[in-house]
Amino acid sequence: MGFHTFDVERAEALEDAGRYRFCSREELLGAIDPSADDVVADVGSGTGFYTDEVAPFVERMYAVDVQPEMHEHYREKGAPENVEFVTAGATSLPLSDDELDAAFSTMTYHEFADDAALEELARVVRPGGRVVTLDWSRSGTGDDGPPMDERFALGDAVDAFESAGFTTVRGETRKETFVHVCTR
Ligand SMILES: C[S@@+](CC[C@H](N)C(=O)[O-])C[C@H]1O[C@@H](n2cnc3c(N)ncnc32)[C@H](O)[C@@H]1O
Repeated sequence: MGFHTFDVERAEALEDAGRYRFCSREELLGAIDPSADDVVADVGSGTGFYTDEVAPFVERMYAVDVQPEMHEHYREKGAPENVEFVTAGATSLPLSDDELDAAFSTMTYHEFADDAALEELARVVRPGGRVVTLDWSRSGTGDDGPPMDERFALGDAVDAFESAGFTTVRGETRKETFVHVCTR
């Protein structure tokens, strides 16, 4: 696991629509490019703020979170019917080999990033499947998001995913965040 895990006591903050300043639904969907029959996982789904945006465009959506309390928040809010809750850490996903057409994470990579987690993603994402990572950038200002010393740079994500067998399709650093898209 990476650095600290997001505090469940602050879960409501994840539902703040102001977060679209850092990643919009359109941007996320554009990066994932889902098909209607896709099986997709949101790794570190939290309250489902972004899971909700992608679920209507896929067949099955796994909301994966290591903290069951986060799933409780999401259940209370109400999840789309095709969302399946998975309580697990990113290093031990209870999914079959090659089961996923795509996986994504929003503002969470810094919490789970390590070799074991990326190897696990390489196991469950099918060949040609896509992994989309949006996270706070080490070159941001630090005005929002986690402490600077807990963040990664785009180049760190490129190196880590490529070491795990993925091929980078696109990467971009913006003001506060980076986006990384790769295929297995
Ligand atoms: C900052 S929150 C972001 C939640 C959501 N992705 C969003 O953007 O609204 C990070 C979430 O990742 C979860 N998480 C942290 N480490 C994890 C791990 N190793 N495996 C699975 N989930 C993890 C936390 O419990 C938390 O719900």
